[in-house]
Amino acid sequence: MSEHKVIDESKQGEAFMIEQPVVSNGKKLFLESYGCAMNFSDSEIVASILKDKGFTTTQDFNEADVIFVNTCAIREGAEQRVRKRLTDFKRAKKNNPDLIVGVLGCMAERLKSQFLEQEKLVDIVVGPDAYRSLPELIEIAETGQNAINVLLSKEETYADIAPVRLGSNGVTAFISITRGCDNMCAFCVVPFTRGRERSRDPETIVKEAQDLFAEGYREVTLLGQNVDSYLWTGGGLKKDNLSHEELNNATTFSQLLEKVALVNPDLRVRFSTSHPKDMNDDVLYTIAKYENICSYIHLPVQSGNSRILEMMNRGYTREWYLNRIDAIRKIIPDCGISMDIITGFCSETEEEHQDTLSLMETVKYDFGYMFAYSERPKTLAERKYKDDVPAEIKSRRLAEIVELQLKHSAERTKEGVGKVHRVLVEGISKKSKEELFGRNSQSTVVVFPKENFKIGDYVTVLADRCTGGTLIGKAI
Ligand code: SAH
Ligand code: SF4
Ligand code: F3S
Repeated sequence: MSEHKVIDESKQGEAFMIEQPVVSNGKKLFLESYGCAMNFSDSEIVASILKDKGFTTTQDFNEADVIFVNTCAIREGAEQRVRKRLTDFKRAKKNNPDLIVGVLGCMAERLKSQFLEQEKLVDIVVGPDAYRSLPELIEIAETGQNAINVLLSKEETYADIAPVRLGSNGVTAFISITRGCDNMCAFCVVPFTRGRERSRDPETIVKEAQDLFAEGYREVTLLGQNVDSYLWTGGGLKKDNLSHEELNNATTFSQLLEKVALVNPDLRVRFSTSHPKDMNDDVLYTIAKYENICSYIHLPVQSGNSRILEMMNRGYTREWYLNRIDAIRKIIPDCGISMDIITGFCSETEEEHQDTLSLMETVKYDFGYMFAYSERPKTLAERKYKDDVPAEIKSRRLAEIVELQLKHSAERTKEGVGKVHRVLVEGISKKSKEELFGRNSQSTVVVFPKENFKIGDYVTVLADRCTGGTLIGKAI
């Protein structure tokens, strides 16, 4: 009951393996990732660091010398899935006593040495800011000792590391632009697992986008927990009181978007996640100005009730959020909008739940990610509030929200029928080899007959029908 994705075409939750490096050290690595796009992007950094040390990869964990699981701690359910997987890997150690198992990412950061000492599930524990030390930690583990590095950094952005594109379609790629989060939403574990917010040097971001374009990629997604608060002032943590000169020399998110959009008109630019309290009109005008910045904004709302939003420490009210939606509709009239919602947060009443449903009616999102509240250790909500909405009520409210979203998604998709869409082809349709799929600017999936088109092409498609959240049509 903990999570529901509606029309989610993202790669979240998929496991993948890394590409073969050039010089082998004879050791095989198996790498599996969970959680958000940031974590998948981090796995590409990990793959790059280990590729440089000569690791080859395997798709079969039974023949691996090293197994790494890049983990997520966002909800209890996410952690349970990882634990189950780690138990599978521990069993594999019985057949291969030299096998090294490591846990990376947010759960490693949250639980630190607990995995090594109390649970004895793994040999290596590494937090999100310590991946440069992986080769060293593997060497320590090879001598039979436990190895751990969970230091969080105020500087690390891995800006100089060229990610190994994992499980790639060769067309779309992630680029991390910030790490960490300074927001402290009451329900959220991320500030504890990923530390303080840092922005990455814009030059390295633009360079990465240029390199990707040269390699044939046609879409980049700029990633951060709150992309709107991106601010480059020369490195390190963000300062509160910047001088006039520092501000003049700084790069804001809308300026960064523009720089990346200018790499090439044929390189699509997406970004995630926008924060309603920080999303300003500058960003919206920049999106409207450039054809290749996609008309799509993921704007998590979490709740439609201002009292709950205040308790969540989100920094905006229902009215503020709806004002941001109005601004999007005015400045980018064709914009696709999606959301995240949490149901059953501490003390949420039936009326407050109705406020979330009514906000959904007002916005009519294209799609969304919906979750039942899961209490996380150390968060503000865990310390201050009681997790007092019973599980059955959380799931019933979640089911109502999911049902309404399915209806809205179907309606929104239908609005695309009879219209022409510019589609970037991402792959061959799962249903038929004779069909291709891609997304339009609003991020809706479009399927059409293959003809002579190939992956990476831009194709103009007239949609003549739809199913659920997918448009179906023909190239014109
Ligand atoms: N930085 C992004 C969100 C990252 S986490 C933002 O601010 O929007 C992705 C989503 O997981 C959140 O938007 C929220 O809807 C959900 N989430 C986070 N913590 C949760 C918790 N404790 N229980 C249930 N859902 C949670
Ligand atoms: Fe978590 Fe809030 Fe930061 Fe998003 S903005 S990662 S929900 S603390
Ligand atoms: Fe992402 Fe999960 Fe960490 S959502 S930031 S991998 S807790």
